[in-house]
Amino acid sequence: MNRIFQFLSIAFLFVLVFNSCNKKEEKVQESKIISGAIWKDNNGVPINAHGGGMLYHDGVYYWYGEHKVEGLVGNTAQVGFHCYSSTNLYDWNDEGIVLRVVEDDPDHDIAKGVIMERPKVIYNQKTKKFVMWFHLEPKGVMYDGAKTAIAIADSPTGNFKYVRSMRPNAGHMPLNAGDLIEKPIHPVALSYRFGGSAIPFSTDSLNLVKRDFKNGQMSRDQTLFVDDDGTAYHIHASEENATLHISKLTDDYTDTTGEYVRVFPDRFMEAPAIFKKDGKYYLIASGCTGWAPNASRSAVAENIFGPWQELSNPFKGELAYISYDSQGNYVLPIAGKKDAFMYMGDRWNPTNPIDGRYVWLPIKFDIDGYPYVDYLPEWDFSEYEK
Ligand code: DGJ
Repeated sequence: MNRIFQFLSIAFLFVLVFNSCNKKEEKVQESKIISGAIWKDNNGVPINAHGGGMLYHDGVYYWYGEHKVEGLVGNTAQVGFHCYSSTNLYDWNDEGIVLRVVEDDPDHDIAKGVIMERPKVIYNQKTKKFVMWFHLEPKGVMYDGAKTAIAIADSPTGNFKYVRSMRPNAGHMPLNAGDLIEKPIHPVALSYRFGGSAIPFSTDSLNLVKRDFKNGQMSRDQTLFVDDDGTAYHIHASEENATLHISKLTDDYTDTTGEYVRVFPDRFMEAPAIFKKDGKYYLIASGCTGWAPNASRSAVAENIFGPWQELSNPFKGELAYISYDSQGNYVLPIAGKKDAFMYMGDRWNPTNPIDGRYVWLPIKFDIDGYPYVDYLPEWDFSEYEK
């Protein structure tokens, strides 16, 4: 009996030690940002919020992202958008699924299995509503739908109520169309469908804008930006991904106004993120290579509607050509810290999307005031004090 007791005690001790060692290995997010590690929420579950965006509201950060599942199917929306909250950007509380796919109506715009990407949420001071915009692809069309969709909530943690999807700015020409408006449309443009990152003609005579004039402009990778005066903008990859469009939103943030500009024509930028510092607007975006990382781009403008001046790849060093193995999703201004901005990116895992990881790094500014990002294997927010 004694022997059995001794054996059980030793076995118990062994399990305790083994577990605590294991826990040490698992506990990777301890007041530090370690890009590419597994980041766990308050329940010890890996955070599932890909292609995300952040809202800071009443002292709390809300992180919204695509909830992915295992396997190839995980690139489509099987669950919806997940939200996490935090006051320090290290410890994340699971706030659950805030916009859920519809399971009992296969024809619904957000039926299970459609593509829903890159949710961004902004708060409207006038209506007191939380407004979410995201990229939506109806079922079975791959990425040909190129639509944006809107959902609204009374609280940052939802539930968000789906409103509608659309192609933005139907019936409107861009404000900076200039004399391109007179040029004839290229015949190939009329029937052209998405071919990835290269199209067999230049878009400089507004071929694709004209093609999509009636039904609205294409909208794939996207983000939102709220300016100091409360005016909000939707920034999205358009014209078969060749050109970004920046559209002014209506006062209630639920629609575009028809005022928009085309920027970086034929530069094939995806993953746009905009932030403002000292009265200037900065853009960080990726190139266009599907789920594979590529060199990022950056740009600056005095006015959000341009003209924009393209700068260099903001990533430095050996892995700059793949943006430290990431593609951006948002640039977060750190609350309460002057000139402190954080690059947020995804390290996609297209064959097992749930295991995609996050790459967060501080944005610094060079002598000309241009943004750049250095790789830091681990860091904390005292980095902004340096
Ligand atoms: C790159 C985009 O940035 C992602 O959001 C996603 O749409 C993939 N392309 C799909 O290949």
